[in-house]
Amino acid sequence: MNSVDNMQDASTGEAWRQFDGKSVLVTGGTGSFGKHFIRRLLKSASPRRLVIFSRDEMKQFEMQNELTPLDKNGVLRFFIGDVRDRSRLEMAFRRIDIVIHAAALKQVPTAEYNPFECIHTNVLGAEYIVHAALRSDVSRVIALSTDKAASPINLYGASKLASDKIFLAANNLSGSGGARFAVVRYGNVMASRGSVIPFFQRLVAEGAKSLPITDPRMTRFWITLPMAADFVAASIGRMSGGEIFIPKIPSMKITSLADAIAPGMPHELVGIRPGEKLHEVMITEDDARNTIELSDHYVIQPSFGYWSRPAYLESAKPVAENFRYASDNNTQWLDADTLRKLIG
Ligand SMILES: NC(=O)c1ccc[n+]([C@@H]2O[C@H](COP(=O)([O-])OP(=O)(O)OC[C@H]3O[C@@H](n4cnc5c(N)ncnc54)[C@H](OP(=O)(O)O)[C@@H]3O)[C@@H](O)[C@H]2O)c1
Repeated sequence: MNSVDNMQDASTGEAWRQFDGKSVLVTGGTGSFGKHFIRRLLKSASPRRLVIFSRDEMKQFEMQNELTPLDKNGVLRFFIGDVRDRSRLEMAFRRIDIVIHAAALKQVPTAEYNPFECIHTNVLGAEYIVHAALRSDVSRVIALSTDKAASPINLYGASKLASDKIFLAANNLSGSGGARFAVVRYGNVMASRGSVIPFFQRLVAEGAKSLPITDPRMTRFWITLPMAADFVAASIGRMSGGEIFIPKIPSMKITSLADAIAPGMPHELVGIRPGEKLHEVMITEDDARNTIELSDHYVIQPSFGYWSRPAYLESAKPVAENFRYASDNNTQWLDADTLRKLIG
């Protein structure tokens, strides 16, 4: 089965059993990823406590109403807090085993226009999560990152690169037996808030006569929420600290995506927006030196002197010199039918 076949439900559920009896906290738990991850966790495991950490009470209230019927054991906790608030994080991390850090400001134009806000949430927030984890019983922290963090050209990507560096270096502070930190990096999530797919769908529903296309050559990596959640769960089970885990996922041209959503509808060229790339890169040539490949994912290994490859990576092979994993040189491509099936 390749990654396009298994985009709806990538795992057998085994990875989820590691959460049985554990206390798990998801920052940004009311976001697209967080909601899906928590729903999946409630269905597939029996955690001791499941804490949703975010700022907006309304999103938490709505999520609580939605998920209470699934919460058979009464494990859900809704914690209002800001990742910019270190003491609040320390309070929230008490008796937590695993942290999934999904809170972020993630819109490229928002970050360009509000750089201080982006840095406070994405960079200082990462630092405070590390501090809080080091002062508590947390054993594993996995932070969500993006392809935009590899060779970044916009502040969102640069702030996520800084965040990645903070999490990877945190392993140097925790000492042996202390908390472990790793990163998962992937591309555009279909149907997540702010994604081009719901944007195109809305335009079509509103009777648009054409769809705006930035550049007909543009390509992007695509992943579904179920696949992202499964990959994050699996990576938490695999991590020994300091890795960047990257799933093998398909690419699609922006024009094919528009054709899949509105077959036959004309395209209107609007030009690349500030801070946008023509193609996204997940692994650069420089990262390739430390990258190893498994059947369905890559791992960028840390360059710590003390790091030794865990047993599960024994079968992994180093990638070729000058390897580059980008959305334009991908070997897997999404076709219109598969995309339509995936987004319903
Ligand atoms: N969506 C994608 O295409 C994509 C692709 C690659 C990587 N990622 C990464 O995946 C992660 C999750 O993305 P997503 O699509 O789920 O984002 P999202 O739907 O925009 O959700 C973001 C979440 O973060 C919370 N949040 C924002 N600022 C916060 C703060 N200062 N303190 C606490 N919580 C805060 C938001 O809730 P409140 O506003 O209520 O606080 C919300 O729950 C992000 O790290 C993103 O960079 C996303």
